[in-house]
Amino acid sequence: MGEASEAKMPVAVGGGGSGTGLLEGSIPQQKSFDGIPFPAIVSSDASFDFDLSRFIDAITHHKSWLQGLLHCSGALLLRGFPVVTASDFDSVVQAFGYDELPYVGGAAPRTNVVGRVFTANESPPDQKIPFHHEMAQVPEFPSKLFFFCEEEPASGGETPIVLSHLVYNRMKEKYPEFVEKLDELGLIYTRILGVGDDPSSPIGRGWQSTFLTTDKSVAEERAARLGMKLEWMEDGVKTITGPIPAIKFEQTRGRKIWFNSMVAAYTGWEDARNDPVKAVTFGDGTPLPSKIIYDCLKILDNESVAIPWQKGDILLLDNLAVLHSRRSFKPPRRILASLCK
Ligand code: FE2
Repeated sequence: MGEASEAKMPVAVGGGGSGTGLLEGSIPQQKSFDGIPFPAIVSSDASFDFDLSRFIDAITHHKSWLQGLLHCSGALLLRGFPVVTASDFDSVVQAFGYDELPYVGGAAPRTNVVGRVFTANESPPDQKIPFHHEMAQVPEFPSKLFFFCEEEPASGGETPIVLSHLVYNRMKEKYPEFVEKLDELGLIYTRILGVGDDPSSPIGRGWQSTFLTTDKSVAEERAARLGMKLEWMEDGVKTITGPIPAIKFEQTRGRKIWFNSMVAAYTGWEDARNDPVKAVTFGDGTPLPSKIIYDCLKILDNESVAIPWQKGDILLLDNLAVLHSRRSFKPPRRILASLCK
């Protein structure tokens, strides 16, 4: 806990600050963009004796201050609060009051733990998960997502985050023609789902758990609602999404964002069924330039922030402002997640 408590710096903005038990702090891994800390960090005032219910009260009373920090920064880390179990985390999520988003159509294998809480992507520890906006490839994606560290990784396993508009700006500066073409054509994603889950793959959800049914015609209906076409195969189904936009104009902040899974799909959608180069193409079906995709991967890494998880940490992300990823790790590590509309 050392680094968070040493660097505490009280602020008195809106509902937080002195006397509320909630302090805006800083840690060495944090970055700053346009003078705004990324991520915003709120920790507990050492003189304030929090138990879970007092913490829930504090969130409820200072919700607009916390949401303001999230809006300005794009990400908010809550560190040093007495959040221990999955159901504690569920109560924190509920205190923020965002509507729940059911997990339909995402690529990662997840299990419901309690209430609105799911396991985060359960793909193998030695695999890293590339940067993505959560469910960017389906029309109904979460606007916010929460992560909670129930069990600290033995080593590694950070969840790096990066500001999406920054990635757009860097790419636009460096590859204006490519970005223009991407903006105009969008992307097509193709993923082959197996029959039943394949836990050895980072994109290993089978079609039944992707569409929450065992009925092919129900799967087709649900796929259509997600803007996905299905082509049934002998040992699974090919899902085709798009063309869909790769760049979005984010209304609330008035800026363009890199809202796509291009790099993730191109460099990561690989398993026994999937060839990453076929997983994503321009919206007209033509292949993407490999060199530019790998350079984009570098930009994502260079601009990102990776904070080592501490037990009890809660990371709240604005899915319209930041992309996230996961580093490989040594078990144990248990990160839980909750998605909001
Ligand atoms: Fe994710």
